[in-house]
Amino acid sequence: MNLRPAVLADSELLQAWDRQPHVIAATGDDDAINWDAELTRDVDWQWNFIAEVDGRPIGIIQVIDPQREETHYWGDVEANLRAIDIWIGPPSDLGRGFGTIMMQLVLEFCFANPTISGVLIDPLASNTRARRFYERIGFHFVEYRRFGNDDCAVYRIDRPQ
Ligand SMILES: CC(C)(COP(=O)(O)OP(=O)(O)OC[C@H]1O[C@@H](n2cnc3c(N)ncnc32)[C@H](O)[C@@H]1OP(=O)(O)O)[C@@H](O)C(=O)NCCC(=O)NCCS
Repeated sequence: MNLRPAVLADSELLQAWDRQPHVIAATGDDDAINWDAELTRDVDWQWNFIAEVDGRPIGIIQVIDPQREETHYWGDVEANLRAIDIWIGPPSDLGRGFGTIMMQLVLEFCFANPTISGVLIDPLASNTRARRFYERIGFHFVEYRRFGNDDCAVYRIDRPQ
């Protein structure tokens, strides 16, 4: 598996993934992502990665600096963090260990920046499978928090010592 930056040519695939029931179930009431806009803007607080297995795209990871992200989704949050969204597109690729490797690779990316002290993630509180997945990777539960209309469970993983 490798992670590569997502590009405009990925937009159609990402829109198709967004229509998958398992992605809709994990996304809550957030507005649909405008991928054409998302993939063409040039900002230094967001990174979009496509995960590929043998050259085949299977998932997407979005990384933001939650303090600097433009909508201030995370509100008043400390500096030097990253926040992640992750999902696998094709349903046949769920539960095969790919998500675990994606998380390992993206945590390496985040902590390669020596100023980064921790990484946040905010699954829906009801997404018990994703929560178990993050806990197994080493995230710890921080708090329940409402983002817009969504009841989420905030998790954090600190820089490995
Ligand atoms: C969460 C996700 C990235 C994990 O990747 P994965 O490759 O499926 O997971 P792995 O095979 O490495 O690990 C297996 C674990 O993943 C989780 N998982 C598996 N299928 C899942 C699914 N359909 N939805 C949520 N979590 C799932 C479970 O915790 C599973 O462990 P379990 O079998 O003991 O329940 C992936 O399942 C996914 O994209 N799910 C749907 C979207 C989602 O929930 N994203 C997270 C939003 S915060």
